[in-house]
Amino acid sequence: MTKLWGGRFQKSAESWVDEFGASIGFDQQLVMEDLEGSVAHVTMLGAQGILDSKEVEQILAGLAELKSKAEAGELEFHVANEDIHLNLEKMLTDLIGPVGGKLHTGRSRNDQVATDMHLFLKKRVVEVIELIEAFQKTILQKAEQHVETIAPGYTHLQRAQPISFAHHLMAYFWMLERDKERFNESMKRIDILPLGAGAMAGTTFPIDREKSAELLGFSKVYLNSMDAVSDRDFIVEFLSNSSLLMTHLSRFAEEIIIWSTDEFKFIELDDAFSTGSSIMPQKKNPDMAELIRGKTGRVYGNLMGLLTVLKGTPLTYNKDMQEDKEGMFDTVHTILGALKIFEGMVRTMTVNTERLHSAVHSDFSNATELADYLATKGMPFREAHEVTGKLVFTCIQRGIFLLDLPIEDMRKESELLEADVYDVLKPEAAVRRRHSLGGTGFDQVRIQIDKAKALLS
Ligand code: ARG
Repeated sequence: MTKLWGGRFQKSAESWVDEFGASIGFDQQLVMEDLEGSVAHVTMLGAQGILDSKEVEQILAGLAELKSKAEAGELEFHVANEDIHLNLEKMLTDLIGPVGGKLHTGRSRNDQVATDMHLFLKKRVVEVIELIEAFQKTILQKAEQHVETIAPGYTHLQRAQPISFAHHLMAYFWMLERDKERFNESMKRIDILPLGAGAMAGTTFPIDREKSAELLGFSKVYLNSMDAVSDRDFIVEFLSNSSLLMTHLSRFAEEIIIWSTDEFKFIELDDAFSTGSSIMPQKKNPDMAELIRGKTGRVYGNLMGLLTVLKGTPLTYNKDMQEDKEGMFDTVHTILGALKIFEGMVRTMTVNTERLHSAVHSDFSNATELADYLATKGMPFREAHEVTGKLVFTCIQRGIFLLDLPIEDMRKESELLEADVYDVLKPEAAVRRRHSLGGTGFDQVRIQIDKAKALLS
């Protein structure tokens, strides 16, 4: 096969060289975007009188045919044609004859590929945002059911203070809200059109870049052709936003895994989101949560990969940039999958409220309440902390909890302690009384949920 750029070459490359350089194996995922870009480009060429209307008509008809074939999965791509751009151009000329060669007037693969990537991410980021929001809705629904479900809250993975289980779930709502914000804000930088930058210096043809932007639905065009063809910041930003999203999903996944253990048993995952073991019949494994935690690694890797690709490349386009694609496709695929799975996993999981209730009644997570009680009665908090610590130590020695310690024993440490301390020590009270803004008090959690709902509507 002769190359579309073969004019100045005396001999052809070895097939394995072609294979190494080709991107068609993966950039065929850009087929729709590439066709879209071409439709806009040739329409603009026509409007500017650079091509005549007959030529434009022929090319548009050819592109339309390629599009229906692409939709039907009937396009055959060849490594010899290197990438999606040359594959489609070859198919077009095979289909409509030499006039197909006019499509590339005033355009280069450099502005073409950058345009495809912008178009691709513009669509995918919308999908990501939709899936984040669907997951947020599910979290919100679960939270609403568990405002008054008391659970142990942890620091250092040690029981810290009793909380509303809804409060714990809602923490992830807000992480996802920030993720959504970041993806939304990144749109501003994805929504810039490189087309018309040519290879890197612009073109002598009287093109209208604003027109192309309008046709493709971009709100701006790059104002520097060299920047236009070499900018991959918007992809780095996407990978970075995805990495942070995966960090959040991975932390949540880790909790789901811990909560599902026999040791915790705070939740049970639905069968549909669990797997069995081939040897141990009793097992029900939280594979999906583990996989999401595990896949976080590849998304971080994709970010590091692209940053490293870019750091040593002089302006403008270098073939290194072809390496921007696989990591991006992989990341899109990974985060869309992870969000979808996670939503279903949380929607269908059962919260073991009794277990949570008993967990919180058999620990010292109400110790802060005792210290606060003393501080409220005028004892300096440091001293109150010390007194409480001593009472906790007494309980540990006797194998009981603070609520079981008789008032006489309590008063040995401080006369400020009176019978009403037991009300304060109840885990429900510990949660209920935390009225501070953003705290775990039931009223605060309800306010939080209302605000969250308003954000989504
Ligand atoms: N396949 C190439 C890429 O993905 C397209 C741009 C090629 N441009 C060039 N001058 N070789 O980056």
